[in-house]
Amino acid sequence: MILFLYGPPASGKTTLGQILAEKTNSRFIDLDAVIEAKAGMPISEIFASSGEAAFREMESASLLETIAQLERDCESCVVSLGGGTLLRQENRLSCEKAGDIFCIDTPSEEELTRRIAKLPESRPLGNKAVERAAHYAAFPNRVAAFFEAQQSLVIVGKGIASPFLREGNIVSDANVSRLWGERLNVKPFVEIPSGEENKSIGTVVELWRAFAKKGLGRKDRVVALGGGVTGDLTGFAAATWMRGIKWINIPTTLLSMVDASTGGKTGCDLAEGKNLAGAFHFPELVVADVDFLETLSSEILADGMAEFIKHEIIGGRSENCGLFRKGFVPSAKQIAENLMVKVSIVREDPFETKNRRMLLNCGHTVAHAVEKLSKYSIPHGEAVAIGCCEEARIAVRRSLSPQSWAEEVESVFSAAGLPVELPCGMGKAAIVEEMRGDKKRSGDIVAFALPCGWGDVRIVPIDLTKEDIWQ
Ligand SMILES: NC(=O)c1ccc[n+]([C@@H]2O[C@H](COP(=O)([O-])OP(=O)(O)OC[C@H]3O[C@@H](n4cnc5c(N)ncnc54)[C@H](O)[C@@H]3O)[C@@H](O)[C@H]2O)c1
Ligand SMILES: [Zn+2]
Repeated sequence: MILFLYGPPASGKTTLGQILAEKTNSRFIDLDAVIEAKAGMPISEIFASSGEAAFREMESASLLETIAQLERDCESCVVSLGGGTLLRQENRLSCEKAGDIFCIDTPSEEELTRRIAKLPESRPLGNKAVERAAHYAAFPNRVAAFFEAQQSLVIVGKGIASPFLREGNIVSDANVSRLWGERLNVKPFVEIPSGEENKSIGTVVELWRAFAKKGLGRKDRVVALGGGVTGDLTGFAAATWMRGIKWINIPTTLLSMVDASTGGKTGCDLAEGKNLAGAFHFPELVVADVDFLETLSSEILADGMAEFIKHEIIGGRSENCGLFRKGFVPSAKQIAENLMVKVSIVREDPFETKNRRMLLNCGHTVAHAVEKLSKYSIPHGEAVAIGCCEEARIAVRRSLSPQSWAEEVESVFSAAGLPVELPCGMGKAAIVEEMRGDKKRSGDIVAFALPCGWGDVRIVPIDLTKEDIWQ
């Protein structure tokens, strides 16, 4: 893999390059540093003494030498380019021939100003992001955002999955393999059957056997390409294979991009309940590529939208709620911002030892009961939508929120094409009975994460033997 990171000055090419190289066991090269070493002076001095034209000549020569050397050594490498390296078309062609170019989107103006202020004054910067906007926009593979989530590097963008699928030991599910295998030229070494019913210990055993057949050892890593089921299973098999090997998660559903892929939880279901066997095992890298959303059915997209809206509620991001119509496909930037709501909570409580992560359970106490009572015929996302609406109504009944709040939550989920009422025939007493078995329970007291307002989710312990949540 030769990956060239490009983008405006201060977009984060060097920072991302260094972490990405570490996470993918690749070499890291900063082209500016190569030029400075060759010239024996900082770039600002090259500009001052010889001018930009001379600098561009040196830059092109250094790029060609670097590529030739990497190709000779067959080394996997992440190269961070200068902010103007690809202004020359021949440089762009050389990079495209040798590997992949990812262009990092310009961060917000405040963030850019903050970053530029931190850089040494001598760097020739200026507002190149604005001057060269059309130039940067001409690169199709884009990184909208990157950040670390506990031990994982998360990159979110468009057209960014391919390089990570070339060399890897890929595990995928049958649907994703059929829809994306040829397009991405990917041949998984294990293809698991699709669907929650296959999120079983039997499939984990299949994965272990495939790992054994391939001779995977402690230094190898596996790549999960699929939705939450593929990620949870592959992560769990990786956590338990040889007491833990590294893995990369490439989520392909909206739900797995904004929820399942971050947070380090892996596992499988048992007949006794969902996700009962599992481990915390953070992937080295999460690559959320919005291109995968193109092939999702509207039902699976809506399922992911429920968790997406849940995060917007937790994060207090009310300004976006008008966007969530049925069939709405979020952009990479919107996914990155949404994901940050979960990531910032996970950072504070990575292994769920404090109460912080419980906020993510918003709407889920009712949702889990609804799912279970429907014998899982109601998809998780739909159950979350119903759960958030019911729990907002509980907040209203307990005078934690005004009536208008429950109506607002209802209207947001319903505009996104999700159900907002309990299914007819599902008895409230049965739901309470089911909730008493919830894992966030201590005795008969269940800790609800009640949505009480935008950015206001409260952990409210309720004694279900004494209090009637429906009154
Ligand atoms: N680990 C966590 O923290 C966490 C958090 C939330 C949910 N989960 C788990 O995630 C699972 C649900 O995730 P999910 O909804 O992604 O399930 P999934 O993996 O079953 O995917 C849903 C369906 O979409 C198909 N699919 C996947 N990508 C596709 C694509 N790009 N185009 C077309 N079809 C595609 C799959 O084959 C499957 O049929 C549950 O098992 C849940 O327990 C885990
Ligand atoms: Zn959920």
